[in-house]
Amino acid sequence: MHLIAPSVLSADFANLQRDIEMINLSNADWFHVDVMDGVFVPNISFGMPVIKALKKHAMKPLDVHLMIVDPDRYIKDFKAAGADILTVHYEACTHLHRTVQAIKAEGMKAGVSINPHTPVSVLEDIIADLDLVLIMSVNPGFGGQSFIERTYSKLRYLREIIAENNASCLVEVDGGVNDLNAPELVKAGADVLVAGNYVFGASDPVAAIDSIKYF
Ligand code: DX5
Ligand code: ZN
Repeated sequence: MHLIAPSVLSADFANLQRDIEMINLSNADWFHVDVMDGVFVPNISFGMPVIKALKKHAMKPLDVHLMIVDPDRYIKDFKAAGADILTVHYEACTHLHRTVQAIKAEGMKAGVSINPHTPVSVLEDIIADLDLVLIMSVNPGFGGQSFIERTYSKLRYLREIIAENNASCLVEVDGGVNDLNAPELVKAGADVLVAGNYVFGASDPVAAIDSIKYF
């Protein structure tokens, strides 16, 4: 069964505890937490104080997606704030192998994300070291954008690379996920679906979660 990670970026920040409790009581599996620095992406989201506050109430793992340059500087801080899974961008790391090892050394699961224009083949030599690969299905920076169709073939190719290397990482898709594309994404090889606007923009977010979890 695939996992669902609602993106807190689309939550109501003035009612964060209410939205956290909604996810706690739902069939969602993880909290997806988007950190943006205004440099790697053109938007700024939130940082350590908000993640610490989330951690106090969240009863499910925090899946932290760093859209920041030079993430090595903050690995220990994200661990202290409560991250369970820490994902960095391939495009933001000069020494990706070292970064991945540093994340694992802190006792977190290590993920690597690639932008829509980045081919999955660049992950061949790191795939066996990863706990997670995050395929961006929109250009990172904002919630509520439309899904890029090319994602399906990237997923299928990534599955081949995972098999060839006897790797065991999970494959996550992030951006524009909804009830229309979720079944095909899982069929193409996704293990984890992130959904922001589709969940928090729904009149019944719990039902929206179920609609992309059970089909
Ligand atoms: C985009 C973020 C996503 C975003 C997804 O830069 O990484 O996690 O919150 O939001 P939706 O599901 O609305 O595209
Ligand atoms: Zn994300």
